[in-house]
Amino acid sequence: MCCSIIGIISSKNVVAPALVDSLKRMEYRGYDSVGVATLATTNRISVRKGIGKVNQVNSSLNLTEMEGFVGIGHSRWATHGGVTDYNAHPHPCCTEDIAVVHNGIIENYLPLKEELVKKGHRFRSETDTEVIAHLLEDHYNASRDIKAAMLETVSQLEGSYAFVAMFANGSLACARLDEPLVIGVSDNAYYASSDVLGFLQYTDQAMFLDNRDIAIIDRDGAHIFTFAGEPVTRGVTKVAWELADVNKGEFAHYTIKEIFEQRTSVKAATYQEEHKIKVFCDTIAAAGNIIVTGSGTSYHTSLITSMAGCRALKKRFEPVMASEFKYNMDSIDKDTVVLAISQSGETADVLSATKLARAAGAKILSIVNVSTSSLARAADVSLAINSGPEIGVAATKSFTGQVSLAYSVLDRISGGRIGFDRDAVSDKITKMLAGSAAIERLVNVTMPKVNDIYLLGRSIHFPIALEGALKMKELAYVHAEGIAAGELKHGPLALMDKNAVVFVLNPDDKTYGDTLSSAHEVKTRGAKIIGISNVSNDIYDAMIEIPKMENELLYPLVEVIPLQLFSYYLALRNNVDPDFPRNLAKSVTVK
Ligand code: F6R
Repeated sequence: MCCSIIGIISSKNVVAPALVDSLKRMEYRGYDSVGVATLATTNRISVRKGIGKVNQVNSSLNLTEMEGFVGIGHSRWATHGGVTDYNAHPHPCCTEDIAVVHNGIIENYLPLKEELVKKGHRFRSETDTEVIAHLLEDHYNASRDIKAAMLETVSQLEGSYAFVAMFANGSLACARLDEPLVIGVSDNAYYASSDVLGFLQYTDQAMFLDNRDIAIIDRDGAHIFTFAGEPVTRGVTKVAWELADVNKGEFAHYTIKEIFEQRTSVKAATYQEEHKIKVFCDTIAAAGNIIVTGSGTSYHTSLITSMAGCRALKKRFEPVMASEFKYNMDSIDKDTVVLAISQSGETADVLSATKLARAAGAKILSIVNVSTSSLARAADVSLAINSGPEIGVAATKSFTGQVSLAYSVLDRISGGRIGFDRDAVSDKITKMLAGSAAIERLVNVTMPKVNDIYLLGRSIHFPIALEGALKMKELAYVHAEGIAAGELKHGPLALMDKNAVVFVLNPDDKTYGDTLSSAHEVKTRGAKIIGISNVSNDIYDAMIEIPKMENELLYPLVEVIPLQLFSYYLALRNNVDPDFPRNLAKSVTVK
């Protein structure tokens, strides 16, 4: 699962309102059901949970009115077990003296469950998570010692997980393996959360647990151990308060707010500490073999970075999808640099790619938005794009931030072969955004209702065709396909008829003539054509004008803006909540 978990233990305040508030702030990570458990004054754990978003479940179950100074909360994005009230977390053990919230996957839950059932444990859900509650119960009953119960339990679990367990004696116990877990520390409370956003409204002091750490938190403080039971200390880090600024401001949705934030986020991405960017650039310059990896939108950045890297540095860059990485390891050695790109820095496929590459001797560089993420910490050098929290599930400002930072790195190494000028790019994006009403009109007035959208582009425009299609699919639930324009005649042309709408990414660079021919090929089959270009042409049924860019490698930064806007307005037209598309979560922390 890619869920949000939070546990709070406070010496002063009733925790339920803070648990609900935290879940709202982290809702972008997962959102099909929600639950809270608190320890009431009677020392009984009480659990309330149900299907829906945080506000819906709260208004039907009055979560905020639960009593208790200790509690745990969860918002779920289902993987094992359907979306039902029973499958929502927290999951209590048989006696209801322990309750658990969990993020990740327990791969061996079926044999563990069989074993526990044989011992007489009663399961109420279909989830993998529930085995944790029963294992803890089993071991705690044997030893009456939370540390021993945790050590025994984690020794039996296989998979990747972060979980927080609440015990009826008022303690919280948590553990992490390949899923994020961070502890917030304030004067009168501790917070155990999957994301710093879970507690940043209360404290900026955070302890990042390492992989294979267990923390037991009670009124005396937080005690941390390795999975081998050795006590360890994890330093307290101050996290940036700006992250807490996660309201929508004047905008109707986070997605449109974040699209507009690109006016400044493309600049923010390039402000880097000198010593870090120097080592980052030197590492790329010295590499014999460079592999760029990422997932989804961050993979599209990897494609752009690889093309631009080859051109600027006259050196081979190989883009590899993170989910395909493990099948393409043969060329990786100690001369290899893997550049891993990720907004969240928690994507399981990306983390697993870097782990494998590291084991094969490669150096790891990363570009992330969340500078405290697992990927940032796993890299030899990591640069952050400084975009601020991206709450909308669809990646928007993180994409242009990643491209801007990659371009400024390549410019620095190549002596300016790309010519990325942050102020000029920011001005051009600002002008594109000023035309948002025209895109809204295109969606609501000019565009017929369509089921199939195609996007054509060559060279550096091809990744934008893919990115535009991804935005349309996830935001508006419309089938959309990015096609390398030269490939049309090798198959996709068979799909073109009067029902197709085709975006043609066609500024007047060296791809112009060939892409115009492709536009003619689809027009002849009756398709409607929307040109994205700096030069008009009668062939376009509608045209979105983009500014002329000095270097063709810079076009992606402006071409993507109308496609993001188009997808957003299409989502609204199709009555879809653009911030929370169905079946998707912001951080995909499972493989
Ligand atoms: C697309 C989108 C996803 C992410 C992908 C990788 O809009 O949001 O495709 O790009 O899940 O996420 P990060 O960049 O966090 O590794």
